[in-house]
Amino acid sequence: MSSKFSAVEVIASKRDRNELTDEQIKWTIAEYTNGNIADEQMSALLMAILLNGMNMREISTWTNAMIASGERMNWQKLSRPTVDKHSTGGVGDKITLPLAPLVAACGVAIPQLSGRGLGHTGGTLDKMESIPGWRASLSNDEMLKVLQDCGAVICAAGSGLAPADKKLYALRDVTGTVPAIPLIASSIMSKKIAEGTGALVLDVKTGNGAFMDQPEKARELAKTMVQIGKSAGLKISALVTAMDVPLGKKIGNALEVEESIEVLSGGGPADVVELTLVLADEMLKLANVKPKLSPESALKNGQAMDVWRKMVSAQGGDLNQQLPKSKHQMQILAKESGKLLSMNALSVGVASWLLGAGRAKQGEKVQAAAGIEIHAKPGEAITKGAPLFTLHTDEAERFERAQAQLDKAVEIGSEKSEPSVKRLPLVIDRIES
Ligand code: URA
Repeated sequence: MSSKFSAVEVIASKRDRNELTDEQIKWTIAEYTNGNIADEQMSALLMAILLNGMNMREISTWTNAMIASGERMNWQKLSRPTVDKHSTGGVGDKITLPLAPLVAACGVAIPQLSGRGLGHTGGTLDKMESIPGWRASLSNDEMLKVLQDCGAVICAAGSGLAPADKKLYALRDVTGTVPAIPLIASSIMSKKIAEGTGALVLDVKTGNGAFMDQPEKARELAKTMVQIGKSAGLKISALVTAMDVPLGKKIGNALEVEESIEVLSGGGPADVVELTLVLADEMLKLANVKPKLSPESALKNGQAMDVWRKMVSAQGGDLNQQLPKSKHQMQILAKESGKLLSMNALSVGVASWLLGAGRAKQGEKVQAAAGIEIHAKPGEAITKGAPLFTLHTDEAERFERAQAQLDKAVEIGSEKSEPSVKRLPLVIDRIES
């Protein structure tokens, strides 16, 4: 091992609330990626960072060191500007699926390198893989070809992109060190900067179903990421958006593809359509593209759907085949009449995960058809005995635990009553560089 520093010295320095030097940070990331710093030492350092924080210089250096651990892509061969969108994750957040083809239909290239779900939040790749034949892994040349031919590509990040983050993320996941702003910001931004996009819109979720349940914390995360992106020369902005209630009415892999197709067909739930259009406008603004056709019209007239079909089939997906259907379904009925006051996103996300839509450990298989259909959203009137949820799974023994989560997910009151926790507006804040 290089003797420039020792891991213990770096850990102790952060434990004692000191700033790490640029040299210490670069050394730590390089040595950890190369296997010269042990997981238990890195775990201690991550916990010290979670507890004692990092300043902006430390976060930038940490991010740049993670970028430098792997390859950096570039899209200079493309004739269009590139823009990407990244969400910090939530329940029912399928926005990438309609958004990428929509913005591509408006004249911008979307290189959307996406991830898999872990815990109660879903992952774009798991959703797309429920389409028969669709392939997530592409070589860099294949990625460029799909982008050139279709205007958008949704695929897995290759193993060469920010390998330091892959190791660190897996370690954070098992050491309780995920929810730290310096670590989340550097993890997301290292991948996005290495991906080579010219512009980036961040959708930072807040509310019970998000990493950052308090809007103030979400704002701080958004500001940190915008600052990192700006220093790296990216055009960047962030929206802080609500994740106190699930997005849309379908949660789960194939179910979310189904709902995305509804949106691309000009229908779909109002909140999914609204957020898709707000993010599309933001992406076009950053790319400095004034489309001949508004995003709203491109959804209605089928142009976004044409890009979606082309993009899916370019990766082997067959949209003429039926999406997978679950072996078992069960309905949960309203226990009383009144107004549905709230629906806890976290409980619905956990229930969907318990039904088999998500994984507990990296690498586990997910059920394509598992998930939840929501029949009423907060604000709507409901009648005792009417269906509130339909649960889907291939293993009926999963119903019981999912039902227990959903029983505590909803609050029903009289027409005039208010939810015990005030609902968040869909778009809470906008942060730009
Ligand atoms: N998504 C990431 O890529 N990294 C994090 O740390 C959290 C969410």
